[in-house]
Amino acid sequence: MRNELIKLARDNGTPLFILDHAKIRENFQVFKKNLPNVQAYYAVKANSNQEIIKTLFNEGASFDVASYNEFMQIYNQIKSFKKAEKDFFIWDKIIFSNTIKDKDTLKKIKRYKPLVTYDNAEEVDKIKENCETAGLVLRLKVPDTGSQVEMSSKFGAEPADAAALIKKVFDSGLAVEGLSFHVGSQCTNFDNYATALQITAEIFNDARKKGYELKIIDIGGGFPAAYDSNVPRFERLAEVIESEIARLFPADVEVIAEPGRFMVATTAVLVSEIIGKAVRNGKIFYHINDGVYHTFSGIVYDHWIPNFTPLSNGRDSETEVCAVVGPTCDSFDKISLSEQLPAGLKLGDLLYTENIGAYSVASSTKFNGFEGAKILHINS
Ligand SMILES: Cc1ncc(COP(=O)(O)O)c(C=O)c1O
Repeated sequence: MRNELIKLARDNGTPLFILDHAKIRENFQVFKKNLPNVQAYYAVKANSNQEIIKTLFNEGASFDVASYNEFMQIYNQIKSFKKAEKDFFIWDKIIFSNTIKDKDTLKKIKRYKPLVTYDNAEEVDKIKENCETAGLVLRLKVPDTGSQVEMSSKFGAEPADAAALIKKVFDSGLAVEGLSFHVGSQCTNFDNYATALQITAEIFNDARKKGYELKIIDIGGGFPAAYDSNVPRFERLAEVIESEIARLFPADVEVIAEPGRFMVATTAVLVSEIIGKAVRNGKIFYHINDGVYHTFSGIVYDHWIPNFTPLSNGRDSETEVCAVVGPTCDSFDKISLSEQLPAGLKLGDLLYTENIGAYSVASSTKFNGFEGAKILHINS
């Protein structure tokens, strides 16, 4: 792999974001195999690259979108479908999982009869006024203890308010299709899923008793990517989910999920280059040509912990603690102050970073005039 990465970097320049579509297909199939009764809606926000969407579309994925632009990225794939097929695809395979949608977005998607989430009463009124064709999914607040990125401080109705929020929708002539939650991203505490399913089942079963024909439960994202061997295995989580759903819900429930990170995190490698080297306060600072405003933006937005491996051969094997920082003129642009890298790396040496496919290029900026990494698709 080392030589191949060096060759790709030589041929394409750096920083180079190498995205392996065989791995995307594999992750999708692993998800499907372990959760055969769950329809996977890829959360486009994790990496919205159109080629990823194309690959997952061809695998038969459904999609979770957060905005009109993300919706149009999926729509591009089905442009040539006949109207009935298109309408069916949109209803069956796309969910707007952003609980707050502005009026203009709602007006624009009204013609498509979309499935949308909500978590508050104002949103119901807004949907009724601007997008009365929508089917609604109530997002619940659930525990996200220990997840890398928490969700419950910004999203989700209190379970105690759920019954009133369901009633409000039906009273206003719309329909609640189901319930959703998100246990926080990179959730390694599987109890979060078990608790969320328990909370959801109580509300689901209560609503059905009252005659509201809820059909769907949406178990959100959070499925952990195997960043290292300490991450509990997805296969184990799948068993928990399958058995809890069978225990708690009626057999006719439709289960959907919104995996983002799980599908793409492990599918990309970044090759960056050392462009500067300085000793600051006695510590070596390697300045590389990618940083936190660019592919390493996940350090800021995703609480992501970076990793670096040198690609150059023949350097000292003894390591030293050093800093790795980005190329911009901003002192905030520090990727890590505590890397252990071989002593004596030189300008022009290449580093690679694994498992950087999710929440990386998706939130990269063009700050300071740096374009960010070139994206190279392999096995597509
Ligand atoms: C509503 C919703 N669904 C799904 C996801 C994807 O989550 P993950 O990448 O943890 O699978 C997110 C991530 O922010 C989200 O906000």
